[in-house]
Amino acid sequence: MKKQVKQCLDKAEESRVNMLEKIVKKAEEIRDRVIKFRREIHRNPELGGSEEKTSAFVAGILEDNDIEVKRGVAGYGVVGLLKGSGEADTVALRADLDALPIQDYKKVEYASSVPGIMHACGHDVHSAVLMGTAIVLGSLRERLKGNVKFIFQPSEERPTGGADYMIKAGVLEDPAPSAIFALHTFPEMQVGTIGHKAGIMTASADRFRIVIKGKSGHASRPHQTVDAVLVSSMVISAIHHIVTRRTDPIHPAVISVGTIEGGSAPNVIAEVVEMRGTVRTLSPKTKKIMPALIEKVIKGTTLTMGATYEFLYESGSPSVVNDWALNQLAKRCAVDVVSAQNVFELPDPIMGAEDFAYYSEKIPGMFIRLGTSNREKGIMTPLHSSYFDVDEDALAVGIKVMSWIAVNYLCSKAGEKL
Ligand code: NI
Repeated sequence: MKKQVKQCLDKAEESRVNMLEKIVKKAEEIRDRVIKFRREIHRNPELGGSEEKTSAFVAGILEDNDIEVKRGVAGYGVVGLLKGSGEADTVALRADLDALPIQDYKKVEYASSVPGIMHACGHDVHSAVLMGTAIVLGSLRERLKGNVKFIFQPSEERPTGGADYMIKAGVLEDPAPSAIFALHTFPEMQVGTIGHKAGIMTASADRFRIVIKGKSGHASRPHQTVDAVLVSSMVISAIHHIVTRRTDPIHPAVISVGTIEGGSAPNVIAEVVEMRGTVRTLSPKTKKIMPALIEKVIKGTTLTMGATYEFLYESGSPSVVNDWALNQLAKRCAVDVVSAQNVFELPDPIMGAEDFAYYSEKIPGMFIRLGTSNREKGIMTPLHSSYFDVDEDALAVGIKVMSWIAVNYLCSKAGEKL
Protein backbone atom coordinates (compact mmCIF):
# COMPACT_ATOMS: atom_id res chain seq x y z
CA MET A 1 0.00 0.00 0.00
CA LYS A 2 2.66 2.42 1.08
CA LYS A 3 4.63 1.60 -2.01
CA GLN A 4 1.63 2.36 -4.23
CA VAL A 5 1.11 5.78 -2.66
CA LYS A 6 4.78 6.52 -3.03
CA GLN A 7 4.67 5.57 -6.71
CA CYS A 8 1.66 7.78 -7.27
CA LEU A 9 3.36 10.75 -5.60
CA ASP A 10 6.50 10.17 -7.62
CA LYS A 11 4.43 10.14 -10.77
CA ALA A 12 2.65 13.35 -9.80
CA GLU A 13 5.96 14.99 -8.99
CA GLU A 14 7.39 13.81 -12.30
CA SER A 15 4.43 15.31 -14.11
CA ARG A 16 4.76 18.55 -12.14
CA VAL A 17 8.43 18.89 -13.02
CA ASN A 18 7.61 18.12 -16.63
CA MET A 19 4.95 20.86 -16.75
CA LEU A 20 7.33 23.43 -15.23
CA GLU A 21 10.01 22.43 -17.73
CA LYS A 22 7.55 23.00 -20.56
CA ILE A 23 6.67 26.46 -19.22
CA VAL A 24 10.33 27.42 -18.84
CA LYS A 25 11.17 26.15 -22.32
CA LYS A 26 8.30 28.02 -23.98
CA ALA A 27 9.03 31.22 -22.02
CA GLU A 28 12.65 31.08 -23.21
CA GLU A 29 11.53 30.38 -26.76
CA ILE A 30 9.39 33.55 -26.84
CA ARG A 31 11.84 35.70 -24.83
CA ASP A 32 12.86 37.94 -27.76
CA ARG A 33 9.30 38.28 -29.04
CA VAL A 34 8.10 39.44 -25.65
CA ILE A 35 10.94 41.97 -25.39
CA LYS A 36 9.71 43.30 -28.75
CA PHE A 37 6.15 43.54 -27.35
CA ARG A 38 7.45 45.52 -24.39
CA ARG A 39 9.49 47.86 -26.57
CA GLU A 40 6.59 48.43 -28.96
CA ILE A 41 4.39 49.50 -26.04
CA HIS A 42 7.20 51.47 -24.40
CA ARG A 43 7.81 53.42 -27.62
CA ASN A 44 4.11 54.25 -28.00
CA PRO A 45 2.78 55.12 -24.55
CA GLU A 46 -0.82 56.25 -24.10
CA LEU A 47 -2.40 57.91 -21.09
CA GLY A 48 -5.25 56.32 -19.10
CA GLY A 49 -8.48 56.42 -21.07
CA SER A 50 -6.64 56.75 -24.41
CA GLU A 51 -5.01 53.32 -24.71
CA GLU A 52 -6.43 52.77 -28.19
CA LYS A 53 -3.28 51.50 -29.96
CA THR A 54 -1.96 49.57 -26.95
CA SER A 55 -5.31 47.87 -26.54
CA ALA A 56 -5.52 46.92 -30.24
CA PHE A 57 -1.94 45.63 -30.14
CA VAL A 58 -2.61 43.40 -27.12
CA ALA A 59 -5.91 42.10 -28.54
CA GLY A 60 -4.20 41.26 -31.85
CA ILE A 61 -1.46 39.23 -30.16
CA LEU A 62 -4.01 37.28 -28.09
CA GLU A 63 -6.12 36.53 -31.17
CA ASP A 64 -3.05 35.40 -33.11
CA ASN A 65 -2.57 32.84 -30.35
CA ASP A 66 -6.14 31.51 -30.52
CA ILE A 67 -7.33 33.11 -27.34
CA GLU A 68 -10.94 34.27 -27.23
CA VAL A 69 -10.85 38.07 -26.99
CA LYS A 70 -13.29 40.73 -25.84
CA ARG A 71 -12.28 44.24 -26.89
CA GLY A 72 -13.60 47.56 -25.67
CA VAL A 73 -14.30 46.49 -22.10
CA ALA A 74 -14.76 49.62 -19.93
CA GLY A 75 -13.17 51.77 -22.64
CA TYR A 76 -9.98 50.25 -23.95
CA GLY A 77 -9.88 47.19 -21.71
CA VAL A 78 -9.15 43.80 -23.28
CA VAL A 79 -10.15 40.45 -21.81
CA GLY A 80 -8.78 37.17 -23.12
CA LEU A 81 -10.18 33.79 -22.18
CA LEU A 82 -8.28 30.55 -22.49
CA LYS A 83 -10.59 27.60 -21.96
CA GLY A 84 -9.27 24.57 -20.16
CA SER A 85 -10.84 21.18 -19.72
CA GLY A 86 -14.25 20.22 -18.34
CA GLU A 87 -16.32 21.83 -15.60
CA ALA A 88 -13.38 23.83 -14.56
CA ASP A 89 -12.49 26.69 -12.29
CA THR A 90 -11.30 30.03 -13.68
CA VAL A 91 -8.29 32.02 -12.55
CA ALA A 92 -7.74 35.66 -13.59
CA LEU A 93 -4.39 37.28 -14.32
CA ARG A 94 -4.33 41.04 -14.63
CA ALA A 95 -2.13 43.69 -16.28
CA ASP A 96 -2.55 47.43 -16.86
CA LEU A 97 -2.13 49.32 -20.13
CA ASP A 98 -1.70 53.01 -19.35
CA ALA A 99 1.34 55.29 -19.20
CA LEU A 100 2.07 58.51 -17.27
CA PRO A 101 2.34 62.20 -18.14
CA ILE A 102 6.14 62.17 -17.72
CA GLN A 103 8.85 63.06 -20.24
CA ASP A 104 11.09 60.13 -21.18
CA TYR A 105 14.74 61.24 -20.96
CA LYS A 106 16.26 57.80 -21.62
CA LYS A 107 18.66 57.51 -24.51
CA VAL A 108 17.66 54.09 -25.81
CA GLU A 109 16.20 53.09 -29.16
CA TYR A 110 12.91 52.08 -27.52
CA ALA A 111 12.47 55.40 -25.64
CA SER A 112 9.02 56.98 -25.80
CA SER A 113 8.23 58.60 -29.13
CA VAL A 114 5.46 60.67 -27.57
CA PRO A 115 6.55 63.95 -25.94
CA GLY A 116 5.53 64.21 -22.30
CA ILE A 117 4.20 60.65 -21.99
CA MET A 118 6.08 57.54 -20.92
CA HIS A 119 5.75 54.12 -19.34
CA ALA A 120 7.43 55.09 -16.07
CA CYS A 121 5.51 52.61 -13.91
CA GLY A 122 6.28 49.45 -15.87
CA HIS A 123 2.78 48.86 -17.21
CA ASP A 124 4.43 48.07 -20.56
CA VAL A 125 6.25 45.27 -18.74
CA HIS A 126 3.07 44.03 -17.05
CA SER A 127 1.25 43.91 -20.41
CA ALA A 128 4.14 42.18 -22.20
CA VAL A 129 4.47 39.63 -19.38
CA LEU A 130 0.75 38.87 -19.53
CA MET A 131 0.81 38.52 -23.32
CA GLY A 132 3.75 36.15 -22.95
CA THR A 133 1.93 34.22 -20.23
CA ALA A 134 -1.09 33.88 -22.53
CA ILE A 135 1.16 32.45 -25.26
CA VAL A 136 2.83 30.00 -22.86
CA LEU A 137 -0.43 28.81 -21.30
CA GLY A 138 -2.04 28.71 -24.75
CA SER A 139 0.63 26.22 -25.82
CA LEU A 140 -0.30 24.03 -22.85
CA ARG A 141 -4.07 24.38 -23.08
CA GLU A 142 -4.76 20.62 -23.26
CA ARG A 143 -3.12 20.16 -19.88
CA LEU A 144 -4.80 23.10 -18.12
CA LYS A 145 -7.22 22.06 -15.41
CA GLY A 146 -9.40 25.13 -15.87
CA ASN A 147 -9.83 28.49 -17.59
CA VAL A 148 -7.49 31.44 -17.51
CA LYS A 149 -8.85 34.94 -17.91
CA PHE A 150 -6.34 37.56 -19.02
CA ILE A 151 -7.43 41.02 -17.92
CA PHE A 152 -5.70 44.03 -19.53
CA GLN A 153 -7.26 47.06 -17.89
CA PRO A 154 -7.03 50.72 -18.83
CA SER A 155 -6.48 53.72 -16.55
CA GLU A 156 -4.67 52.29 -13.54
CA GLU A 157 -2.93 55.62 -12.97
CA ARG A 158 -6.05 57.75 -13.19
CA PRO A 159 -7.63 58.73 -9.86
CA THR A 160 -10.91 56.99 -10.63
CA GLY A 161 -9.02 53.88 -11.75
CA GLY A 162 -9.86 51.39 -14.46
CA ALA A 163 -10.33 48.32 -12.28
CA ASP A 164 -13.60 49.48 -10.80
CA TYR A 165 -15.02 50.05 -14.29
CA MET A 166 -13.76 46.68 -15.53
CA ILE A 167 -15.59 44.99 -12.64
CA LYS A 168 -18.76 46.98 -13.40
CA ALA A 169 -18.39 45.88 -17.03
CA GLY A 170 -18.59 42.26 -15.82
CA VAL A 171 -14.99 41.12 -15.95
CA LEU A 172 -15.42 39.03 -12.81
CA GLU A 173 -18.36 37.14 -14.31
CA ASP A 174 -19.02 34.68 -17.11
CA PRO A 175 -16.95 32.78 -16.26
CA ALA A 176 -16.36 34.05 -12.73
CA PRO A 177 -12.74 33.69 -11.63
CA SER A 178 -12.30 32.36 -8.10
CA ALA A 179 -8.95 34.14 -7.67
CA ILE A 180 -6.91 36.88 -9.31
CA PHE A 181 -3.16 37.44 -9.54
CA ALA A 182 -1.07 40.36 -10.79
CA LEU A 183 2.52 41.47 -10.63
CA HIS A 184 4.22 44.86 -10.52
CA THR A 185 7.72 45.88 -11.51
CA PHE A 186 9.79 46.60 -8.43
CA PRO A 187 13.08 48.47 -8.97
CA GLU A 188 13.98 48.08 -5.29
CA MET A 189 14.70 44.44 -6.08
CA GLN A 190 17.25 42.93 -8.42
CA VAL A 191 16.14 41.16 -11.63
CA GLY A 192 15.53 37.46 -11.00
CA THR A 193 13.88 38.03 -7.64
CA ILE A 194 10.26 37.96 -6.53
CA GLY A 195 8.70 39.74 -3.56
CA HIS A 196 5.54 38.59 -1.85
CA LYS A 197 3.53 39.35 1.26
CA ALA A 198 0.29 38.23 2.86
CA GLY A 199 -2.24 40.78 4.07
CA ILE A 200 -2.10 44.52 3.43
CA MET A 201 0.20 45.36 0.54
CA THR A 202 -0.63 48.96 -0.41
CA ALA A 203 -2.43 51.96 1.06
CA SER A 204 -5.84 53.23 0.15
CA ALA A 205 -5.79 56.52 -1.74
CA ASP A 206 -8.43 59.23 -1.39
CA ARG A 207 -8.37 62.77 -2.70
CA PHE A 208 -9.72 66.07 -1.43
CA ARG A 209 -10.26 69.62 -2.54
CA ILE A 210 -10.65 72.51 -0.11
CA VAL A 211 -11.72 76.01 -1.08
CA ILE A 212 -11.26 78.72 1.55
CA LYS A 213 -13.40 81.77 0.94
CA GLY A 214 -12.36 85.03 2.61
CA LYS A 215 -12.93 88.70 1.88
CA SER A 216 -10.45 90.56 -0.28
CA GLY A 217 -9.13 94.04 0.31
CA HIS A 218 -5.98 96.11 0.60
CA ALA A 219 -3.05 94.26 2.13
CA SER A 220 -2.33 97.29 4.36
CA ARG A 221 -5.79 97.05 6.00
CA PRO A 222 -6.11 93.39 6.98
CA HIS A 223 -8.69 94.15 9.68
CA GLN A 224 -11.18 95.01 6.96
CA THR A 225 -10.66 91.68 5.20
CA VAL A 226 -10.71 87.94 5.77
CA ASP A 227 -7.36 86.67 4.54
CA ALA A 228 -7.92 83.40 2.65
CA VAL A 229 -4.14 82.81 2.40
CA LEU A 230 -3.65 83.03 6.16
CA VAL A 231 -6.71 80.86 6.89
CA SER A 232 -5.41 78.29 4.38
CA SER A 233 -2.05 78.17 6.11
CA MET A 234 -3.81 77.56 9.43
CA VAL A 235 -5.94 74.83 7.86
CA ILE A 236 -2.87 73.12 6.37
CA SER A 237 -1.03 73.27 9.67
CA ALA A 238 -4.04 71.95 11.61
CA ILE A 239 -4.67 69.13 9.12
CA HIS A 240 -1.16 67.86 9.78
CA HIS A 241 -2.04 67.34 13.41
CA ILE A 242 -4.78 64.84 12.55
CA VAL A 243 -2.30 62.02 11.93
CA THR A 244 -0.30 62.71 15.08
CA ARG A 245 -3.23 63.28 17.44
CA ARG A 246 -6.53 62.03 16.08
CA THR A 247 -5.78 58.71 14.38
CA ASP A 248 -4.55 55.52 16.03
CA PRO A 249 -0.74 55.52 15.77
CA ILE A 250 -0.62 51.79 15.09
CA HIS A 251 -2.53 52.42 11.85
CA PRO A 252 -0.31 54.55 9.62
CA ALA A 253 -1.80 57.38 7.58
CA VAL A 254 -0.56 60.21 5.42
CA ILE A 255 -2.30 63.48 4.60
CA SER A 256 -0.52 65.58 2.01
CA VAL A 257 -1.61 68.87 0.52
CA GLY A 258 -0.18 68.79 -2.98
CA THR A 259 -1.39 72.03 -4.50
CA ILE A 260 -2.34 75.47 -3.25
CA GLU A 261 -3.51 78.29 -5.43
CA GLY A 262 -4.84 81.73 -4.60
CA GLY A 263 -4.26 85.44 -4.56
CA SER A 264 -3.61 87.88 -7.36
CA ALA A 265 -1.06 90.46 -6.20
CA PRO A 266 1.40 91.05 -3.34
CA ASN A 267 -0.61 93.96 -1.99
CA VAL A 268 -4.04 92.35 -2.20
CA ILE A 269 -5.57 90.09 0.45
CA ALA A 270 -6.75 86.96 -1.33
CA GLU A 271 -10.45 86.28 -1.54
CA VAL A 272 -10.22 82.60 -2.45
CA VAL A 273 -7.62 79.85 -2.01
CA GLU A 274 -7.95 76.34 -3.37
CA MET A 275 -5.98 73.36 -2.08
CA ARG A 276 -5.90 69.78 -3.28
CA GLY A 277 -4.41 66.79 -1.55
CA THR A 278 -4.35 63.08 -0.93
CA VAL A 279 -5.02 60.81 2.04
CA ARG A 280 -3.33 57.41 2.36
CA THR A 281 -4.30 54.89 4.99
CA LEU A 282 -3.64 51.22 5.70
CA SER A 283 -6.68 50.48 7.84
CA PRO A 284 -10.28 50.70 6.57
CA LYS A 285 -11.27 52.21 9.92
CA THR A 286 -8.84 55.12 9.55
CA LYS A 287 -9.92 55.58 5.93
CA LYS A 288 -13.53 55.85 7.08
CA ILE A 289 -12.98 58.54 9.73
CA MET A 290 -10.67 60.78 7.67
CA PRO A 291 -13.24 62.91 5.78
CA ALA A 292 -15.03 63.94 8.98
CA LEU A 293 -11.77 64.67 10.83
CA ILE A 294 -10.50 66.88 8.03
CA GLU A 295 -13.79 68.71 7.67
CA LYS A 296 -13.91 69.40 11.42
CA VAL A 297 -10.52 71.10 11.20
CA ILE A 298 -11.60 73.21 8.23
CA LYS A 299 -14.92 74.10 9.85
CA GLY A 300 -13.36 75.12 13.16
CA THR A 301 -10.54 77.11 11.62
CA THR A 302 -12.70 79.01 9.12
CA LEU A 303 -15.29 79.75 11.80
CA THR A 304 -12.62 81.23 14.09
CA MET A 305 -11.28 83.42 11.31
CA GLY A 306 -14.60 84.48 9.77
CA ALA A 307 -14.07 82.62 6.51
CA THR A 308 -16.24 80.03 4.80
CA TYR A 309 -15.28 76.88 2.92
CA GLU A 310 -16.13 74.20 0.40
CA PHE A 311 -14.89 70.66 0.98
CA LEU A 312 -14.97 67.83 -1.50
CA TYR A 313 -13.70 64.39 -0.51
CA GLU A 314 -13.40 61.59 -3.07
CA SER A 315 -12.97 58.08 -1.78
CA GLY A 316 -10.52 56.24 -4.02
CA SER A 317 -8.86 52.86 -4.27
CA PRO A 318 -8.92 50.73 -1.11
CA SER A 319 -5.83 48.82 0.12
CA VAL A 320 -4.60 45.79 -1.77
CA VAL A 321 -5.00 42.90 0.66
CA ASN A 322 -3.26 39.70 -0.37
CA ASP A 323 -5.02 36.46 0.43
CA TRP A 324 -3.12 34.25 2.86
CA ALA A 325 -3.49 30.98 0.92
CA LEU A 326 -2.75 32.59 -2.45
CA ASN A 327 0.36 34.18 -0.94
CA GLN A 328 1.55 30.68 0.08
CA LEU A 329 0.84 29.36 -3.39
CA ALA A 330 2.58 32.28 -5.13
CA LYS A 331 5.59 31.92 -2.85
CA ARG A 332 5.91 28.18 -3.59
CA CYS A 333 5.62 28.82 -7.33
CA ALA A 334 8.19 31.63 -7.21
CA VAL A 335 10.60 29.34 -5.33
CA ASP A 336 10.15 26.67 -8.03
CA VAL A 337 11.01 29.21 -10.75
CA VAL A 338 13.75 31.41 -9.25
CA SER A 339 14.81 29.30 -6.22
CA ALA A 340 14.34 30.07 -2.52
CA GLN A 341 17.24 32.52 -2.16
CA ASN A 342 15.61 34.82 -4.72
CA VAL A 343 12.17 34.95 -3.15
CA PHE A 344 11.66 37.59 -0.49
CA GLU A 345 8.90 38.24 1.93
CA LEU A 346 8.26 41.98 1.85
CA PRO A 347 8.39 43.33 5.39
CA ASP A 348 6.08 46.31 5.05
CA PRO A 349 3.21 47.59 2.97
CA ILE A 350 3.81 50.72 0.89
CA MET A 351 1.80 53.95 1.17
CA GLY A 352 1.37 54.00 -2.61
CA ALA A 353 -1.93 52.78 -4.05
CA GLU A 354 -2.88 50.28 -6.72
CA ASP A 355 -6.35 49.75 -8.14
CA PHE A 356 -5.84 45.97 -8.15
CA ALA A 357 -7.43 46.50 -4.73
CA TYR A 358 -10.88 46.65 -6.36
CA TYR A 359 -10.53 43.08 -7.63
CA SER A 360 -9.05 41.77 -4.40
CA GLU A 361 -11.99 43.30 -2.56
CA LYS A 362 -14.36 41.10 -4.57
CA ILE A 363 -12.42 37.85 -4.86
CA PRO A 364 -9.24 36.49 -3.25
CA GLY A 365 -6.29 38.25 -4.84
CA MET A 366 -2.52 38.17 -4.79
CA PHE A 367 -0.21 40.95 -5.95
CA ILE A 368 3.46 40.09 -6.31
CA ARG A 369 6.56 42.18 -6.94
CA LEU A 370 8.83 41.45 -9.86
CA GLY A 371 12.45 42.49 -9.33
CA THR A 372 13.50 44.62 -12.31
CA SER A 373 16.69 46.48 -11.44
CA ASN A 374 20.23 45.49 -12.27
CA ARG A 375 23.03 47.19 -10.35
CA GLU A 376 25.76 45.89 -12.69
CA LYS A 377 23.98 47.30 -15.74
CA GLY A 378 23.16 50.56 -13.93
CA ILE A 379 19.39 49.99 -14.17
CA MET A 380 18.21 51.30 -10.82
CA THR A 381 15.89 54.24 -11.40
CA PRO A 382 12.75 54.41 -9.27
CA LEU A 383 9.18 54.11 -10.53
CA HIS A 384 7.71 57.32 -12.01
CA SER A 385 11.21 58.60 -12.86
CA SER A 386 11.94 60.18 -16.27
CA TYR A 387 14.70 57.59 -16.65
CA PHE A 388 12.71 54.57 -15.50
CA ASP A 389 13.75 51.34 -17.17
CA VAL A 390 13.92 47.64 -16.38
CA ASP A 391 16.30 44.79 -17.02
CA GLU A 392 14.32 42.99 -19.71
CA ASP A 393 15.41 39.60 -18.34
CA ALA A 394 12.61 40.25 -15.85
CA LEU A 395 10.03 39.62 -18.59
CA ALA A 396 10.81 35.90 -18.87
CA VAL A 397 10.91 35.60 -15.09
CA GLY A 398 7.46 37.20 -14.86
CA ILE A 399 6.04 34.94 -17.55
CA LYS A 400 7.36 31.77 -15.90
CA VAL A 401 6.08 32.76 -12.47
CA MET A 402 2.63 33.89 -13.66
CA SER A 403 2.17 30.80 -15.86
CA TRP A 404 3.27 28.48 -13.06
CA ILE A 405 0.96 30.20 -10.58
CA ALA A 406 -2.03 29.81 -12.92
CA VAL A 407 -1.27 26.11 -13.53
CA ASN A 408 -0.83 25.38 -9.83
CA TYR A 409 -3.87 27.35 -8.77
CA LEU A 410 -6.14 25.54 -11.24
CA CYS A 411 -4.58 22.26 -10.27
CA SER A 412 -5.21 22.89 -6.58
CA LYS A 413 -8.82 23.82 -7.34
CA ALA A 414 -9.26 20.72 -9.45
CA GLY A 415 -8.16 18.87 -6.30
CA GLU A 416 -5.68 16.75 -8.09
CA LYS A 417 -2.00 16.45 -8.74
CA LEU A 418 -0.74 17.02 -12.26
NI1 NI B 1 1.89 50.97 -11.61
